[in-house]
Amino acid sequence: MKYGYFDNESREYVIDRIDVPVSWTNYIGVKDLCGVFNHTAGGYLFYKSPEYHRITRFRPNGVPMDRPGHYVYIRDDETGEYWTLSWQPAGKDLKEAKYVCRHGLSYAKYQCEYSGITGEQTIFIPLDDPAEIWNVKLKNDSNKKRKLSVFGYAEFSFHHITVDNQNFQMSLYCAGSSFKDSIIEIDLFYEQKGFQYFTADGNIEGNENFDCLRDSFLGSYRTESNPLAVEQGFCSGSFELGGNHCGALRKTVELAPGEETRLVFLLGEGDRQAGSVMRNKYCSKNFEQVDESFEQLKNFWKEKLDKLQIKTPHEGMNTMINIWTLYQAEINVMFSRFASFIEVGGRTGLGYRDTSQDAMMVPHSNPQKSRARLVELLKGLTTDGYGLHLFSPDWFEVQTEPPFKSPTVVPTPSRSQMVHGIEDACADDALWLIPSIAEYIRETGDFGFTDEMYTYADTFDPKTGEGKKESVFDHMKRILDFSARETGPHGICKGLRADWNDCLNLGGGESAMVSFLHHWALTHFIALGKYLKRDVSSYENMASNVRKACEKELWNGSWFTRGFTVSGRSIGSPDCKEGKVFMESNTWAVLSGAVSREHGIAAMDAVDKYLYTSYGLKLCDPAFSQPDDEVGFVTRVYKGLKENAAIFSHPNPWAWAAETMLGRGDRAMKFFDALCPYNQNDKIEVRRAEPYMYCQFISGPDHSAFGRANHPFMTGSAGWSYFAATRFMLGIRPDFDSLIIDPCIPPEWPSFNVRRVWRDAVYNITVKNPNRVSKGVIECMLNNQNVSCNNNIAQIPVQAEKTENLVVVVMG
Ligand code: NOJ
Repeated sequence: MKYGYFDNESREYVIDRIDVPVSWTNYIGVKDLCGVFNHTAGGYLFYKSPEYHRITRFRPNGVPMDRPGHYVYIRDDETGEYWTLSWQPAGKDLKEAKYVCRHGLSYAKYQCEYSGITGEQTIFIPLDDPAEIWNVKLKNDSNKKRKLSVFGYAEFSFHHITVDNQNFQMSLYCAGSSFKDSIIEIDLFYEQKGFQYFTADGNIEGNENFDCLRDSFLGSYRTESNPLAVEQGFCSGSFELGGNHCGALRKTVELAPGEETRLVFLLGEGDRQAGSVMRNKYCSKNFEQVDESFEQLKNFWKEKLDKLQIKTPHEGMNTMINIWTLYQAEINVMFSRFASFIEVGGRTGLGYRDTSQDAMMVPHSNPQKSRARLVELLKGLTTDGYGLHLFSPDWFEVQTEPPFKSPTVVPTPSRSQMVHGIEDACADDALWLIPSIAEYIRETGDFGFTDEMYTYADTFDPKTGEGKKESVFDHMKRILDFSARETGPHGICKGLRADWNDCLNLGGGESAMVSFLHHWALTHFIALGKYLKRDVSSYENMASNVRKACEKELWNGSWFTRGFTVSGRSIGSPDCKEGKVFMESNTWAVLSGAVSREHGIAAMDAVDKYLYTSYGLKLCDPAFSQPDDEVGFVTRVYKGLKENAAIFSHPNPWAWAAETMLGRGDRAMKFFDALCPYNQNDKIEVRRAEPYMYCQFISGPDHSAFGRANHPFMTGSAGWSYFAATRFMLGIRPDFDSLIIDPCIPPEWPSFNVRRVWRDAVYNITVKNPNRVSKGVIECMLNNQNVSCNNNIAQIPVQAEKTENLVVVVMG
């Protein structure tokens, strides 16, 4: 069953059957102001932090779903009938009303045809202003003159979400609202500079045209579906110091048959003065600035996407890579992982492992943000060499302003509570940072980064900004040394609290995944060190020891064991009844380069045999059915959900990449296809979630909802899908001084094209496959000159900036 389609021309996903089974979300804004909205304009807005600076309120996991939102109500003033431009909250009968939602890149367009009026509300945030614009268009398609009232409505939140949700004895009395000069101002009186505003174009005067109090606008015993003000056709001019506040403005329009009009509502950060500046800017000259800012936003994304565009025989891969997967990966980097409808912003900061991986995926499209994230992570590293599992980057900045003190006494956490000890460390966290740094340098050529000096978390003094400082290169060494030190009785790295798999705790035993990751990080570090002519011989020895330990202790004769519990039980091996085969150890055995090809093939064959399903690869098999605290929390998760044998999306691309390293392009594509959301566009009765986004996990075959996708958008799956598909399957990957072309594709593909911008030069690459092979380059031409191919890989030297280069590669 389908609910929409991909409109690639407009770079939009069009939901033309609006009653989708669950929220289909999108992210609005690309800098400090961010809104998370669904297909019916339900959602919330925040400035910088969804936890400490929430602007509009959201009642998560509520009934009815996804309320409130940023709504535009239309009322026919002759009949009294009203509806909304987004299907909800008015929820008109879909037999009479036509609703479409177009989710674009950082905007959402809600379109409606009802009662002879065609309407549209586009929500977006200009690149450089912290103001959310609702660009409203109305057209009278009936044959009579229409008199309409148009109400814009949003409910404000207390900035601190915990207080907003839990401490009404404070929140209800510490915020006030007022209306003046056509602008509603919300004053969060307890903060020195806590203001929000809501305004619209034109002159708004009179009590009938505004409400600042939610309960006056909605009325008692009512909801957003039937607000009293809209029903009666006028507001009541409410405002108060204290209470629950909203922005509600009423404008009236008269439309002759065929006539169109435009209105703009603005919701933003700052006080009435800031609102007035934005009003002058966006509501003058026939809304020219609105249109210009919208174009700028579109160009912002076009420029990013243009860094890498592919044209392959696989329409789904083209659509996902060229538009949606990069978009999803970028959003994760921009806003971290804690603002969605699932993680509703009450827990924020940077997860060390998640952020490290996210930063690795977009250095070509967002080098500044990737670099900034790397620096934040370097400062969140301890001198012992482990990263802080979850931290706030501002802990490691000099404090310029006194921290906000809530009148409700909440003890300030001590420094030692922020900087946790090894007992709370996850062994994989900081290892991810090393390849991320290497990939950032490969992409940008910013070699000087390795010499920059940064402090360590456990030595940092927030008053002075002082602390032990070392180079980035030295930070990397400490991470590698930590993993070499923290090994268990088999010589395999300890998992500590957990490794990538949050729920596989092993009682503090040993983790194959961490040892493989250690090896992967070592290969990146050694390659970088050698390129920079540094002495890395001791790390070459370290890598050799890791390889020996992995082959000796983890190869179990059939595939790679997942680890050992603290009492020495092996997990993920043939003699286990449950949790016999795991994705992480087998994919990483290959990806890490630490094991023989023969064992790698056997490992990935086991992945195919035990873990493959038509919706992607399961994390492990068989699922755990009995709680076993030595194995970990995974045994207390229902079978087929999350880490307990669900199709966990994030590791799926590891398998695609691993298969390409073994040269099996058809197998990589089989796995890619199974997970690909695009392929499930017509299976929404099963998938339920949006088909333009990867989701954290798909319920596995052990669960009654097999095939259902859960937790969209905020997952590392997007970044890894992008990384694996472009760098391994299509095989276009930057190295320190050359662009490598090393595809591994399904043998039936005759050719494909990639346009790649790298270090400010364009590479128009055609890969031909006349011999219908999966892997191996036999010929390469750069601007009609032969380039030698070593080991069947093409290596294109860096070309001069601003040049357009033609690359033709022949596989065979
Ligand atoms: C989600 C967490 O954010 C991530 O850090 C972890 O790797 C996965 N769950 C798997 O447990």
